[in-house]
Amino acid sequence: MIYSKIAGTGRYLPERILTNAELETMVDTTDEWIRTRTGVERRHVAAEDQSTSDLAYEAAKIAMAEAGVTAEDIDMLIVGTTTPDLVFPNIGTLLQDRLGIHNCPAFSIEAACTGFIYALTTADKFIRAGETKCALVIGAEIITKLIDWKDRTTCVLFGDGAGAVVLKPSEEPGILSCHLGADGQYRDLLYFPIGPSKNLFNPPEAGAYIQMKGNEVFKVAVKTLGKVAEEALAANNISKDDIDWLIPHQANIRIIQATAKRLDMPMEKVIQTVQDHGNTSAASVPMALDVGIRDGRIKRGQTLLLEAFGGGFTWGSVLLRY
Ligand code: UT7
Repeated sequence: MIYSKIAGTGRYLPERILTNAELETMVDTTDEWIRTRTGVERRHVAAEDQSTSDLAYEAAKIAMAEAGVTAEDIDMLIVGTTTPDLVFPNIGTLLQDRLGIHNCPAFSIEAACTGFIYALTTADKFIRAGETKCALVIGAEIITKLIDWKDRTTCVLFGDGAGAVVLKPSEEPGILSCHLGADGQYRDLLYFPIGPSKNLFNPPEAGAYIQMKGNEVFKVAVKTLGKVAEEALAANNISKDDIDWLIPHQANIRIIQATAKRLDMPMEKVIQTVQDHGNTSAASVPMALDVGIRDGRIKRGQTLLLEAFGGGFTWGSVLLRY
């Protein structure tokens, strides 16, 4: 039996840090409101001249070095992102070129905040099928370029970053199971109103910014993420106690706490980065994974549950032995 196993991880955050105190000078908000309602204390914001592939490139280089692989070894490159540099060529190919990787499939998956989980799941299938020997899987996002900096209901939430993982075949587990879901009936609760084939030259009056009915998203997110976690446990016939680390999408500390509670997990067993990164969409899970690995909390042989939820809605989980 072939499993896919994480051989290395990396992350990159843009230099500029935007604090809640600074946001207080930009919109009618307070540090206290942001911290208590979301858990966010600061977030990184990409520079004007940075694009998502710049962030992804840095994270990928670190993950490849950590895994001890070179450009020649990579035979699949997948990027989960909602904010690619261009409509095309796809960001996977842009990265391929910069990293000196040639002649392998390279593409992006657009599933909002669940993009990395979708990408990891896809790479896992190729590795299990024996078709891929070394996959570079990335979640990268410059979501702050889609934000209305005058809208306090969204501008305090998001940040930019990139996380990367190198996945290789192994006889030992490995990714144990992946569970993806989506339901398009919720499309109007969280969306960006412009795309290459819609409204591009005729933007809606609300403007070309992220639109979110936060409160309603919150309720579905809490319900769905709890269900997704239980689904992963049931599929593997393991109990809540068997999970060493929960690595959830970092949208809101209250959503994370609700999921942990449903799993009877103390918050000490949850990797939390929302305070430092904000909501980085598809980058949040791979960056949180990398944080836990780098600071020594996550150890080889431990069982991790990764999960995410985002616009669409889309959602998913990956249960793995690190
Ligand atoms: O990553 C993809 C998925 N996204 C999410 O999961 C996000 C889910 N949603 C959330 O995290 C939360 O709903 C928010 C953090 C976005 C909002 O928190 P909330 O507790 O649901 O607040 P609310 O939207 O119900 O607003 C409560 C009040 C409102 O004022 P009134 O109507 O009660 O007078 C808002 O206008 O808070 C007000 N408010 C703010 N006040 C100060 C909204 N944003 C701010 C702000 N500062 N930045």
